[in-house]
Amino acid sequence: MDRLLIRGGQPLCGSVTVSGAKNAALPAMVAVLLTSEELVLENIPSLRDVATIERLLQFMGVEPREGGSGSVCLSSRAVRRCEAPYDLVRTMRASVLVLGPLLARFGKARVSLPGGCAIGPRPINLHLAGLQRMGAEIEIVEGYVVAKAPRLIGTRFAFEQVSVTGTENLMMAATLAKGTTVLENAAREPEVGDLAHLLQKMGARIEGAGTSTITIEGVEDLAGTQHRIVPDRIEAATLAVAGAITQGDVLIQGCIPQHFEAVTTKLQEAGAAVAVEEGGLRVRMGTRPQAVDITTAPFPGFATDMQAQIMALMAIADGKSVITETVFENRFMHIPELVRMGADITFGGPTALVQGVPCLRGAPVMATDLRASASLVIAGLQARGETVLHRVYHLDRGYERLEAKLHSLGGEIQRVEG
Ligand code: UD1
Repeated sequence: MDRLLIRGGQPLCGSVTVSGAKNAALPAMVAVLLTSEELVLENIPSLRDVATIERLLQFMGVEPREGGSGSVCLSSRAVRRCEAPYDLVRTMRASVLVLGPLLARFGKARVSLPGGCAIGPRPINLHLAGLQRMGAEIEIVEGYVVAKAPRLIGTRFAFEQVSVTGTENLMMAATLAKGTTVLENAAREPEVGDLAHLLQKMGARIEGAGTSTITIEGVEDLAGTQHRIVPDRIEAATLAVAGAITQGDVLIQGCIPQHFEAVTTKLQEAGAAVAVEEGGLRVRMGTRPQAVDITTAPFPGFATDMQAQIMALMAIADGKSVITETVFENRFMHIPELVRMGADITFGGPTALVQGVPCLRGAPVMATDLRASASLVIAGLQARGETVLHRVYHLDRGYERLEAKLHSLGGEIQRVEG
């Protein structure tokens, strides 16, 4: 298993370009199940999660072809199996995104229940309730969701809780349903907007994506198209925090700053200079950060996917910070590892108290999930001495060559294979 060796203390300086968004690429690839024509997707990041969704689509009979320079061509003309097996759903929950499209186009689906993961139980009850409201018959058989519907029917469905993939699943299902579907309390994340944009290019009639009410008028069929995936706001924000923790000066190119304003606002409160410049967003930090309080929330709030990374920054801030996680219970697996690096953090329930210390110390640490790994990398870039990050495969699920990008900014970080 690969490891990362990080020697902290170097300020990150220079420019770096963000990749396509993982969380936009996965639903976009799944959308191929809604059409018999070809979909060409550009700016697809090279990630383990993308490889997993490709394997899942291949299992069903879709043949992905490399289109060169980060693009992928997909066709679902020859779908053989409307099924997502346990092994693939277990490693990546986003696999449940196939449920809505399969039901909508083929009238049937058999998808493994995802089960728990490192950041909490993460149920899919809202996905299922919405599909049932659209007329699907759903049973749980031997750990699988078995769903059928001769044709889904448009409906009004209010999410009890904001769900990103829940909104995407139902939005995709509704594109081919009979009649109009209204989704209330829908997720407003930019990745939902990007998926809606792709579906519109395929011929779907969607209004209100990006707001909390999305209206979808079902059509008979959808066509192929070409689409460029939005830049990854979580990667951009991770690079911004990495720049700040090292008191560096980083230009993040190819990002959309409005997509992670909640993070940059907090960086400014902590003392960073943040400016939109031609070609990107520049983040400079000249001093030790001030402690700020953070509460995660659905978009446009502070993303739960940035909570672990900002906690690394707060670990060396001047003062005490209160970090509250409202989206996922149990998303504090990085805390014991940060504490091993000298951080002073206690937590109970959804709240962590971070008493900043002047400097972290390098240590061997273990990645437990994707964003926790990024937090430990950021901490390692600040720490005195050497940090060895084990289980790098978590990082590889969602960051494209993060260590190479940090190295190009002057970070002392290298991958040791095997
Ligand atoms: C997506 C993102 C993930 C991000 C998360 C929150 C993708 C592929 N993944 O995950 O990176 O951390 O949004 O921004 O886009 N819930 C239920 N029942 C459901 C669905 C969700 O109770 O049927 C709960 C979850 O347990 C969680 C909350 O709702 O507490 C939000 O989860 P959700 O937005 O669905 O997360 P994902 O879509 O899985």
